[in-house]
Amino acid sequence: MVYMNLVALAPLLFSVEAFVLPDMFQQEFATPELQQFFEGKDELTREVLKDSSAVNYWKPHVPYFLKPLVETEKLQKKIQLDDLNATAQDLYDLAKKSHKKYGHPTRVIGSPGHWATIDYILEALDGMSDYYNYTLQEFDALSGKINSFNLTDAKTGVSFPNSTAFSLSPSVKPFTGELIEIPNLGCNEADYKSLEIFNKDQSEDNSVKKIALIERGKCPFGIKSDLAGKHGFHAAVIYDNEPENGGEGLHGTLGEPRNHTISTIGVSYDVGVLLVTNIEVSKHYFVKFEMDSTVSKIKTKNVIADTKHGDPENIVALGAHSDSVEEGPGINDDGSGTISLLTVAKQLTHFKINNKVRFAWWSAEEEGLLGSNYYAYNLTKEENHKIRVFMDYDMMASPNYEYEIYDANNKDHPNGSEELKKLYIDFYKHHKLNYTLIPFDGRSDYVGFIENGIPAGGIAAGAEKDNVWNGKVLDKCYHQLCDDVSNLAWDAFLINTKLIAHSVATYANSFEGFPLRDVNATADITTTSTNDVYNEVPVPQFKYAADYLVY
Ligand SMILES: *[C@@H]1O[C@H](CO)[C@@H](O)[C@H](O)[C@H]1NC(C)=O
Ligand SMILES: *[C@@H]1O[C@H](CO)[C@@H](O)[C@H](O)[C@H]1NC(C)=O
Ligand SMILES: *[C@@H]1O[C@H](CO)[C@@H](O)[C@H](O)[C@H]1NC(C)=O
Ligand SMILES: *[C@@H]1O[C@H](CO)[C@@H](O)[C@H](O)[C@H]1NC(C)=O
Ligand SMILES: *[C@@H]1O[C@H](CO)[C@@H](O)[C@H](O)[C@H]1NC(C)=O
Ligand SMILES: *[C@@H]1O[C@H](CO)[C@@H](O)[C@H](O)[C@H]1NC(C)=O
Ligand SMILES: *[C@@H]1O[C@H](CO)[C@@H](O)[C@H](O)[C@H]1NC(C)=O
Ligand SMILES: *[C@@H]1O[C@H](CO)[C@@H](O)[C@H](O)[C@H]1NC(C)=O
Ligand SMILES: *[C@@H]1O[C@H](CO)[C@@H](O)[C@H](O)[C@H]1NC(C)=O
Ligand SMILES: [Zn+2]
Repeated sequence: MVYMNLVALAPLLFSVEAFVLPDMFQQEFATPELQQFFEGKDELTREVLKDSSAVNYWKPHVPYFLKPLVETEKLQKKIQLDDLNATAQDLYDLAKKSHKKYGHPTRVIGSPGHWATIDYILEALDGMSDYYNYTLQEFDALSGKINSFNLTDAKTGVSFPNSTAFSLSPSVKPFTGELIEIPNLGCNEADYKSLEIFNKDQSEDNSVKKIALIERGKCPFGIKSDLAGKHGFHAAVIYDNEPENGGEGLHGTLGEPRNHTISTIGVSYDVGVLLVTNIEVSKHYFVKFEMDSTVSKIKTKNVIADTKHGDPENIVALGAHSDSVEEGPGINDDGSGTISLLTVAKQLTHFKINNKVRFAWWSAEEEGLLGSNYYAYNLTKEENHKIRVFMDYDMMASPNYEYEIYDANNKDHPNGSEELKKLYIDFYKHHKLNYTLIPFDGRSDYVGFIENGIPAGGIAAGAEKDNVWNGKVLDKCYHQLCDDVSNLAWDAFLINTKLIAHSVATYANSFEGFPLRDVNATADITTTSTNDVYNEVPVPQFKYAADYLVY
């Protein structure tokens, strides 16, 4: 009886912004019939308007209490290819705003295309202000630019093949210096102090500049570079320690500059062997070292949006990165994850939830996970403990995709990481899709969460590696100009966005069977992550910071 009256009244509710019914009445009024009325209304309107621009479609205002509780199948059903497509087109248009400054479309941090991406996300959230509130978190991101570099044999003038400049390497004026092999792995003060050249009593010519030759391994490249600088070296060369890599270059980062960081070039295993031999056979071996680079600070912003409803003590968190590399528009990396999150966030507004959901669009992922690290490392203990799980969604639609799941577990990672992995496995199995477990090694924004005790995981569709099923490269446009709208596999995009919806719906509904946060473990993990201890440097848990090797 009561509902009949309310149905008659319902159209009025569309325009009433703050229609609040006391809690005790809400359940009673939220009848299936009334809920259906509103649901039907929404679908109808969407059909009629046909403006599929994911940001702008009109939706009636349905009071929260009348919404049905989120269910995975219902949320998944609302994920539409047209929305993904329209938003991808929009993102590409935004990337084009950088053309004037960069000569091509890009959404790299600091570019007009990236700022426009952030505005676009905010505009979408503004359109859902009854359901979400958001915060912009500003921070300084370090961005390195290598203009040129060169490492050559001083005598022959022949340059060493496949040399690489470490990201965030400082500049140094071209000079010729003596290459000195550092004993052990150059991770400890003692490795440098033992060198005779630094004994003042020796008759070494101190005016000769010295270049440290250090083997890769055990500690981050940044620590080796810093230690070499601290002990008077003018530059450093780090060579690969994995014979199976042969002549292949070393793609690494020095990370945030330390007090004595010096200009550093990476060389392959083969070149390393050659250099060690050259030092052995000639008493003094000289190389010419050149590095023209800049390291700049760029202000940028994370976007963090919370549902207004749901238990604030049990938060479901998920993220994608809003930035691209400079080389291209980044529509798969990570336009796809950005779009998936926007789409799921929009469709979630049709439902009631039990647990609070937090969507994050990280900035400066491509510079080394800077935005997500900034966020995760700066959470207060109280805020940290409320986050039950973090789910990372980076590259959802690689053209020659495979269904990748990060191989997290509960032994090496916070309790719950394994349960999340299982949720993904079950989904792909249920849909009879082949999946691949891939290393949980730091290639995306989960690192800060794991390092701060928060269970995490995620899925991806593949980057520069070869597809395990067909042997061809997963994303032929990875970090390139051609990562545009034509670089998306639509079937994978749709499936993976539905899986994201499934993960959100599942945990927004209930954490039953999911481990509680072990709040006592958090403090330990956070305090051991300092890099300033030169002795007993711990082997980092993650090999990568985004695309770059860390050690
Ligand atoms: C995406 O939209 C464009 C234009 O709006 C259309 O030409 C294209 O066929 C659509 N692609 C898919 C996969 O729906
Ligand atoms: C949303 O608002 C609540 C209540 O004011 C606040 O505690 C929370 O931090 C806000 N969330 C975001 C992401 O801004
Ligand atoms: C590196 O230096 C050598 C010798 O000066 C020169 O022949 C070569 O062209 C340089 N390579 C680059 C990439 O600048
Ligand atoms: C340089 O690395 C590539 C693979 O990245 C390899 O194919 C090539 O043989 C290497 N060059 C040399 C001279 O080792
Ligand atoms: C946390 O915030 C401080 C202050 O803004 C900043 O200096 C620091 O780098 C942040 N931590 C991380 C890991 O980014
Ligand atoms: C799925 O895996 C099976 C073997 O496990 C393989 O034969 C098949 O080709 C795979 N399917 C696809 C689409 O890659
Ligand atoms: C992980 O969580 C499960 C379930 O809550 C619990 O039984 C187990 O003891 C936890 N493991 C650790 C290492 O804390
Ligand atoms: C955490 O530590 C406190 C104080 O040391 C202790 O009382 C509590 O039982 C611990 N909780 C867990 C889950 O181990
Ligand atoms: C680096 O330099 C700063 C300022 O001089 C100093 O406070 C800090 O202790 C130094 N860090 C290390 C690890 O020596
Ligand atoms: Zn990415």
